[in-house]
Amino acid sequence: MRTPLIAGNWKMNCTLAEARELALAVVEAAKGLNDREVLLAPPFTALSATAKELAGESVILAGQNVAWEEKGAFTGEISPAMLKDVGAMAAIIGHSERRQIFGESEAMINARLRAALQAGLMGIFCIGESLEIREKGQADVEAWLKKQMEEGLRGVSAAAARRLVIAYEPIWAIGTGKTASQEQAQQAHAYLRLLLANMYDKSLAEEARIVYGGSVNPSNIDELMSQPDIDGALVGGAALDKEQFARIIQFQAAN
Ligand code: PGA
Repeated sequence: MRTPLIAGNWKMNCTLAEARELALAVVEAAKGLNDREVLLAPPFTALSATAKELAGESVILAGQNVAWEEKGAFTGEISPAMLKDVGAMAAIIGHSERRQIFGESEAMINARLRAALQAGLMGIFCIGESLEIREKGQADVEAWLKKQMEEGLRGVSAAAARRLVIAYEPIWAIGTGKTASQEQAQQAHAYLRLLLANMYDKSLAEEARIVYGGSVNPSNIDELMSQPDIDGALVGGAALDKEQFARIIQFQAAN
């Protein structure tokens, strides 16, 4: 059985006061929900303040990115050890905004992912196709996802891959209000699970969590979570709204 994971990615939002208030509201909303995991990824400046609010609670703290080196002359970067030091247990890696706006390559993302998993962090590895690829059809979508999986997971051992979470985030659905239909998302997730089975083995593929991201909101979360291969959500915009995120983490799947 895979434990559903609902992750809130705050992106470049939240002052310390806003982060504390939001974290507190999430802790309240998550109380008693023992059949799922809730995770928050504040900006680096708010990790420490958020960690204080999450102390002793089950909500997991995550970084929005992580470096591949332990320390040294890497201006602007945060290492796995630094994330762990502040209380984070996870890191988002390869978000499409990092790829598109900041030019992160597949090789960089692979190095980040390997370092995070090696350090014992949960690595939330984001992949997903552009609208152009989606419009070409399913075969092109699958070829793209396969390439991203093979490049991103190069050199990741089966032991390390047990700490992996795949986030399927079609780029055309991020921040656009356009969600992939539950069928489109399910089809992509099932394909990603098949790839994991081929790259590793069937049991790893069955245990790996594959979460969906892209305009998740209170009105689509229940149907998304009702799909057999959708194991959670990576939420951007709606994670900044206390009421909306509370409703999302309190999702009710139909199965
Ligand atoms: P969104 O962002 O929910 O605002 O579409 C999702 C993401 O970027 O992870």
